[in-house]
Amino acid sequence: MFNKQIYQFPILYTNPIPKIALGWGAHETVADECKEAGIKKALMITSGLKGTGIVDEIQGILNHNGISTEKYDKVTSNPKEYEVMAAYQTFKDSQCDGVVTVGGGSSIDTGKGVRVVDANGGKDVTNFIAYLDPPWMETLKKVKPCTIPQISVVTTSGTGAEVTSWAAISYTKARAKVLVSAPNIPSTIAIIDPLLVRLQPKNIAAWTGFDALAHGFEAFVTKVQGPYAYGILLRAVELIYQNLREFTSNRMNHTACERMCWASTMGGIAIGFAAGAGIVHGLGHQISALKDCHHGHINAVLTLAGERYNQPAALDKFAAMTRAMGIDTRNMTEWQAADRWFDEIEQLLKDLEITPGQLNKQFGLEEKDFDHIVKIYSNDFCSQGNPKEFNYDECINILKSVL
Ligand SMILES: [Fe+2]
Repeated sequence: MFNKQIYQFPILYTNPIPKIALGWGAHETVADECKEAGIKKALMITSGLKGTGIVDEIQGILNHNGISTEKYDKVTSNPKEYEVMAAYQTFKDSQCDGVVTVGGGSSIDTGKGVRVVDANGGKDVTNFIAYLDPPWMETLKKVKPCTIPQISVVTTSGTGAEVTSWAAISYTKARAKVLVSAPNIPSTIAIIDPLLVRLQPKNIAAWTGFDALAHGFEAFVTKVQGPYAYGILLRAVELIYQNLREFTSNRMNHTACERMCWASTMGGIAIGFAAGAGIVHGLGHQISALKDCHHGHINAVLTLAGERYNQPAALDKFAAMTRAMGIDTRNMTEWQAADRWFDEIEQLLKDLEITPGQLNKQFGLEEKDFDHIVKIYSNDFCSQGNPKEFNYDECINILKSVL
């Protein structure tokens, strides 16, 4: 069960990267960007971001500048296929002509899903899943390109979804998390404003920040990695390692906040530069689908076990990441330098108050879930890019080791 085109990597493609506006006060440009994209009535897609005032702020700017708005504010973490379809129905019923997402990856990916459904005659979003088998490059040819614009106003520093070509959606009927894609799916523009990002609660800052780190290290060690991604990923790992602790404990540290904004977007860009993710995201997605746990949190919990499995296959890359994090490795062997990466990550998890493993205690996962998780993972892109090739028994053993 694999796509030979991907497995052999004969040609590396990059995905389009949208225009990005990153900086203090960038959210104030949202109405201008809507006008430039031709939006007269925007569907705002969000989880609500209660207590922050961000949704009201964005809506106020849009309305004040003559752009009408409708709102879909029922997006949840790990957005579900029925939420995408409900948001699409609101989009049609209210005759909107564009999407403004306000939030992190869940809102952004729901927006992408609405646009894919809109471009393809209102069919359920689960018709546009990119699997390894059947090969996604073949299925993608039958999917019509997104036509309506999406302005993504980002409020977390982790997802990278604002610049990627995928939407991660929970397919509840299949108990799976899947990737939806279509031509022209990336945001029209990603607006990343540290003023908004600094309003994250502490645990979300830690979890989404670790997700950004996971994009950095998984895309760096993947065997799909194109050379374009190499430098940008090392820089992302460095920035996150040096700023995530500070940002989590003090979101008003503007330097740390801005650096996390840069780093999280860089991770998303690098994934699009023919890099991809690996076993941590792959298993994490499917555990999220069963237990609805936070994406960044489950990635953090799985990191040590997942990457220990990968270490022998990417020793030089783990050592390179240790050096990028500012650790002096001149008196270490390559093995020692690679091992040091794990020591540093273990300490980072401790500092972020994240407990590795203990999947049963933390999320209620049971051994009877493993077969389903690993079978779904075997048809996921993340299983192909992972530096060690997919092996059912070894994946089961990894899960047992962290139960
Ligand atoms: Fe992620």
